[in-house]
Amino acid sequence: MELAEKIGRLKKDRKAVILAHNYQIPEVQDIADFVGDSLDLSIKASQTDAEVIVFCGVHFMAETAKILSPGKTVLLPDKKSGCPMADMITAEQLRALKAEHPGAKVLCYVNTSAEVKAECDLCCTSANAVRVVGEVLKDAGEIIFVPDRYLAAFVAGKTGRAFIVWQGFCPTHAQILPEHVQAARALHPGAVVMVHPECRPDVAALADQVISTGGMSRYAREAEAREMIVGTEPGIIHRLKKENPGKIFHPVSDSVVCPNMKRTSLEKILWSLEDMTHAIEVPEETASRARRCIEAMLNVGR
Ligand code: 13P
Ligand code: SF4
Repeated sequence: MELAEKIGRLKKDRKAVILAHNYQIPEVQDIADFVGDSLDLSIKASQTDAEVIVFCGVHFMAETAKILSPGKTVLLPDKKSGCPMADMITAEQLRALKAEHPGAKVLCYVNTSAEVKAECDLCCTSANAVRVVGEVLKDAGEIIFVPDRYLAAFVAGKTGRAFIVWQGFCPTHAQILPEHVQAARALHPGAVVMVHPECRPDVAALADQVISTGGMSRYAREAEAREMIVGTEPGIIHRLKKENPGKIFHPVSDSVVCPNMKRTSLEKILWSLEDMTHAIEVPEETASRARRCIEAMLNVGR
């Protein structure tokens, strides 16, 4: 029996749903019940009536799903799939920063641990950060924004707000340099350049669109443009091509791979369903505090 077929059968037996991030390898995206960005996946995880969620992504995403659905079993097929950006700030470091700025509102990117979220007032993804700041935090005084300094710079530019920032960043997106964008534009004149807000500001400044991976998929579908340069992890190109067979997509550079997103395979998904591994657990004391800040984000929507 084919791996995909075995997974399909076991998925039914376990009453499981498979959620996959846009950066997953093509085979994983193809067997998933739903493929999306961090915000889409959080919403799906909070709404599904499946008993088990197999989360094909990185640890903070599966953890967010578990916080939103504490009664469900949430499985991460490869327990080493972490996010180095999320690991750049600990709850202890955030508490020290908060102590320096009493009274500041604390906003975290969803790319953080549950312990860090538990210290925050509000969460955001790259799809709704501008709205969260512009709407929910419009009357706030000081705002601490952790951990991504580049997302913070992007949102500051869009909202006119200044933030107290943490110096975190995504090691994958930080590899995209202005010369990559310039070279790609020279090779594909006329193509629209879209980049992720985790990119450096000097890269974002050269782009036509600075949007989340979900935003890229929507833009590719709705815009008239037929050719696009994709400034993010190239895993998303599989989905973009599948949804837009008549359009052309070029990675801004071939080396911008997130190794953690590539750890999930069909074999690991099958083992995960067979052995119910690796189940994510979050102590309820932490989860209940983290849940408030994630739910405040979900109320804002996209
Ligand atoms: P998206 O929410 O845009 O999918 O981004 C998640 C992420 O980790 C990007 O590196
Ligand atoms: Fe984390 Fe960057 Fe990988 Fe996204 S691409 S999961 S931010 S390391």
